[in-house]
Amino acid sequence: MPITLSVPATTSNLGPGFDVLGLALDLWNTVTVAPAAGWQVTVEGEGAERLPHGPENRVARAFRWVFQTLGEPLPPGVHIHCRNRVPVGSGLGSSATAALAGMAAALAWLGRPLDRDQLLAWTVAWEGHPDNAAPALHGGLVAAGLEEGGRPWVLPLELHPLWVEQARLVLALPEVDLPTEKARQVLPRQVPLADAAFNLAHALQVVEALRRGDPDLLRRGMVDRWHQPHRVPLIPGAARAMDAALEAGAVAVMLSGAGPSVLAWALADPDAVEAAMREAFARHGPVRTWQLRISQRGLQVQGNP
Ligand code: HSE
Repeated sequence: MPITLSVPATTSNLGPGFDVLGLALDLWNTVTVAPAAGWQVTVEGEGAERLPHGPENRVARAFRWVFQTLGEPLPPGVHIHCRNRVPVGSGLGSSATAALAGMAAALAWLGRPLDRDQLLAWTVAWEGHPDNAAPALHGGLVAAGLEEGGRPWVLPLELHPLWVEQARLVLALPEVDLPTEKARQVLPRQVPLADAAFNLAHALQVVEALRRGDPDLLRRGMVDRWHQPHRVPLIPGAARAMDAALEAGAVAVMLSGAGPSVLAWALADPDAVEAAMREAFARHGPVRTWQLRISQRGLQVQGNP
């Protein structure tokens, strides 16, 4: 029986919570791993033309890496099939979904328990930061970080039913190539003390607004001085799209992860928010949009070989 893994898209940072806050979204990549005569990787859906179909595919690399790390012999043949719905290079954690799926598939293949702390530590070793992997593993809203020694920690946070049941996260993804690496290079190495205090204060407002179900507080809290001011100018139309989303009634708006996608929180009339963001981006080039819900579930695994 094949192993099937489902891993949700995630949005990280949530405005001021740079590299710490993350949220799982109800948009899933599914990976099936089955015994086969040789090694084969097939990809359908998002990134099918762009992602490697050979042994260098990230899911396949993560799968093999776990066998090597645990000193286990590799199976003689495996067919890995990726059904991708999370757009690649968009700021929705698609690379974390691939690493997690490959690593979790290897644990399931070996009949080992799905140790989420271990998976988080491994994924962080690959990704460098935990704010996509942690919500993809645990679902919902999380805070995550690294201890002094580099060990990752994760803290699931409370989400008010208002957000889980009613909010639509309207995502606009312009056709802009902004790799995370580049979007990190543009950030200053140091922030002024006043900006550090500013972001800390606002990140706490965001966490409390999401716990209380307070749209006004979310709007006030979702301001950032650390990364968005350096990244938004690299994405043509993003500044206008963010303003347009708020004018169309969005509660709050943020860059999703390192971008280039922009996410608006809508409680009423998400169609109007979507249309406004589309129009703003469309002046600069092609744009795709989604209306997503929050996912309270993280990584799901079914079956064994
Ligand atoms: N927190 C990371 C960043 C997310 O903003 O660079 C990258 O996906």
